[in-house]
Amino acid sequence: MIKKIKVKNSGLIKLHFFDDFPDGNLVIGEAEKNVPFKIKRVYFINSLFNKKAQRGLHAHKKLEQIIFCVNGHFTLRLDDGKTRQNILMNDPYYGVRLGPKLWHHMTKFSSDCVILVLASDYFKESDYIRNYKEFLNYVKK
Ligand code: TYD
Repeated sequence: MIKKIKVKNSGLIKLHFFDDFPDGNLVIGEAEKNVPFKIKRVYFINSLFNKKAQRGLHAHKKLEQIIFCVNGHFTLRLDDGKTRQNILMNDPYYGVRLGPKLWHHMTKFSSDCVILVLASDYFKESDYIRNYKEFLNYVKK
């Protein structure tokens, strides 16, 4: 996991954790504390057995999200319209902020990968930008 994020509208979120192995680790996120918004929706992605799986490939207009890889690993590619950065997501204690106007693409999932996302709003297709050219025009505004 990298220590510094260069793209705009992102950043690392470190959760509070107790790693008292061998009885298991406990990791905690609290809304408006280490998670910088009120959480309205939680979703997770598992069963990533397809080696060629791709997810994301969109940006949001207003939605705030924090993405975690709670098990396994994958590559998160971020693009703010100017700067691009690949992040190896392999540390369950660090989340990455997916703020508005940030294109993201997820690939190279380990088969045991589990992704957890905390979101600031309910699902709204109208908040998505799914076309890359449209995204570039939107961030220029
Ligand atoms: P999408 O956000 O495009 O997936 P990802 O970024 O994980 O690749 O969502 C995939 C489909 O699931 C799409 O048809 C919308 C639907 N969906 C919901 O209905 N509710 C949700 O909360 C999410 C995240 C997706």
